[in-house]
Amino acid sequence: MGKRPNSTVAIVGPGRLGQAMGKLLWQAGVPIKFVAARELARARNAVRFIGGGKALSLKDRRLADADIILITTSDTALNPVARELAGYREDWSGRIALHTCGSVPACVLDPFRNRGASIGALHPYQTIPNPSAGVRNLRGGFWAVEGDRRAVAVARRWVKMFSGTTFELQPDAKPIYHLSAFLVCPTVVTLMDCSERLLQQAGVPRRVIRPMLGRFVSETVNNFVEFGARKALTGPAVRGDWTTLEKHVAELQRFAPEVIPAYIELLNLMLRVAGASPDRSKRARRAISSGLRAAARPQRNTPK
Ligand SMILES: NC(=O)c1ccc[n+]([C@@H]2O[C@H](COP(=O)([O-])OP(=O)(O)OC[C@H]3O[C@@H](n4cnc5c(N)ncnc54)[C@H](OP(=O)(O)O)[C@@H]3O)[C@@H](O)[C@H]2O)c1
Repeated sequence: MGKRPNSTVAIVGPGRLGQAMGKLLWQAGVPIKFVAARELARARNAVRFIGGGKALSLKDRRLADADIILITTSDTALNPVARELAGYREDWSGRIALHTCGSVPACVLDPFRNRGASIGALHPYQTIPNPSAGVRNLRGGFWAVEGDRRAVAVARRWVKMFSGTTFELQPDAKPIYHLSAFLVCPTVVTLMDCSERLLQQAGVPRRVIRPMLGRFVSETVNNFVEFGARKALTGPAVRGDWTTLEKHVAELQRFAPEVIPAYIELLNLMLRVAGASPDRSKRARRAISSGLRAAARPQRNTPK
């Protein structure tokens, strides 16, 4: 059944990723039979976005008529949802259950496997802030897959339909794999938010800030991809401009003291990437202490 291109699919928990995948599958001609959510209204909205499928409540046992169950709920819901849905049919032989979480192994779907199904997981290394963005940015992306052979074959076929690339991951490597994504996506957005606030404080026009930050960060990313981390590093810590670091810390202390611990830790990591000598690291630490002392002194021209 895994090989049949017309195997029917039920999407369970259609949030950002579920709706995006649903629409991509639907556009590729995969029959989306059901779209199921806790609230029927949510399922109906998702069906409208995806373009097809019948909206069902999660309690509806007809869900078990689909050949492939694709669970795209939040991570913590995977276990209870799998346990409940697996109970909708005695024998799942020949059927497939997949989920899309990057940190949880496919074996969370064991309730299906225990009743004969093949289980697997596919995870896009991508950020999907809303379903429409997902339809755009999941095409041509990179996906980790793991699980039973038949389930993984379906995952690979779907990703191929999206012009993407798959690679196999060991189940016990999933937390560290997911951590790598966490470190460069929501954290970068958080740092960009800090920069945005500092630029506002500096009086840079609001209309300029986001496009300027976007261009800057994109270039940084391009340099990392082209040259690797060490050669992509620029800035005062790499140059050894210690007075600039001193000023940074003093300004942070005045305008964004909550950012200082992150600044210091990032600076330490940065010096390691740069391969800085112990002497350079010592001078960086001195610059930080001196910046903090400078901030503690009374200011004559503090901006309002
Ligand atoms: N968004 C991303 O950038 C991204 C990227 C890669 C992988 N993923 C993975 O994709 C999965 C979904 O993420 P998402 O960002 O699409 O999440 P989301 O937009 O928050 O959607 C999660 C869906 O799960 C449903 N849900 C939550 N708790 C449930 C429960 N107890 N029972 C049934 N349904 C429940 C929600 O239903 P209600 O509408 O009823 O609340 C919602 O439809 C996660 O495993 C995540 O790790 C996400």
